[in-house]
Amino acid sequence: EKQGFRHYMLKEIHEQPRAIRETMLGAGVGADDVRFDGLSLDVSACARIVMLACGTSFHAALIGRSLIEGLARIPVEVDIASEFRYRDPIVRTTDLALAISQSGETADTIAALKEAKQRGAQTLAICNVLGASLSRVADQVLYTHAGPEISVASTKAFTTQLTMMVLLAIHLGRRTGHLTAERAKALVDGLQDLPAHIDNLLAASAAIRIVARRHQGARDCLFLGRGLCYPVALEGALKLKEISYIHAEGHASGEMKHGPIALVDGNMPVVVLAQRGPGYGKVLSNLEEVRARGGKIIAVATLGDHTIGDLADDLILVPDVAGELQPILASIPLQLLAYHFADLKGTDVDQPRNLAKSVTVE
Ligand code: F6R
Repeated sequence: EKQGFRHYMLKEIHEQPRAIRETMLGAGVGADDVRFDGLSLDVSACARIVMLACGTSFHAALIGRSLIEGLARIPVEVDIASEFRYRDPIVRTTDLALAISQSGETADTIAALKEAKQRGAQTLAICNVLGASLSRVADQVLYTHAGPEISVASTKAFTTQLTMMVLLAIHLGRRTGHLTAERAKALVDGLQDLPAHIDNLLAASAAIRIVARRHQGARDCLFLGRGLCYPVALEGALKLKEISYIHAEGHASGEMKHGPIALVDGNMPVVVLAQRGPGYGKVLSNLEEVRARGGKIIAVATLGDHTIGDLADDLILVPDVAGELQPILASIPLQLLAYHFADLKGTDVDQPRNLAKSVTVE
């Protein structure tokens, strides 16, 4: 049941601290390593990882790519499952095909993993439902422990997939030797702190509702991010469009001037992921460009950032954490923003029109 929440989606957003904690418990997290008891991957024989997924799970895969390449230095490709299966993909026996699916029942993801397996790849699935069809196709399975997700719009499944991506990157990085024990320990410690940070972010729900109310009449919305937060922008846009029916696009910040900036005017909220990190200076100049064209800026920035306030119309602050963990925290306010936009508009939040929870036909 909804346990006092107006919608399953809101309940599931609030379950994220527990869901992340349980996903970590299931993985066997040590002080400076992640064991994944029962998993046997020959990491030295793995020349490349090919990730396959759809929708929100595809966004988790995009973040996983940067994490695994960054921490383990294994080349990673990511493909939309429905594209991969029909494009005569190059797959080698030294590849690990990794399918990511909340339900484990998505027809295209299952077919894509079968295709990779037939072509000789080792296969691994990350899935949230015990014994799902996908788990019967894959050689091995890792489970996110988000618990049942009822709302069509995925929330806790996504952040547990992101948690799993960090855990897997640590596991692989320790085995390829690229990740030092010290750095792994810092990441593990950072992961342990996430549930408390998320509780604090959830407490800002009422403030985010006010932001949504201020932009209630908007028909279009842009989401911008760079690096690890580029896929977070894609996910923020997907969440908003699917439940509020507001037209939303996510873009890599650097692509703004190559087209999307033509859309910006005084009626266009632009959500910018502007946490501190390597791309921060560039994000600030993107903000100025949007502002110069009259766009309304909703910035997600790092707690303690005193420069960004002057550039943004609305400011949502998230705790300062390691770059690898920023996508998880940045996702929380975007989920709440989408939720409040939709709830204020009065749409059927848990059952948006034209959508099904699992897409078992192609
Ligand atoms: C969006 C959403 C969908 C799913 C997609 C894949 O909120 O839920 O985009 O992510 O249909 O589903 P799974 O992960 O079950 O394969």
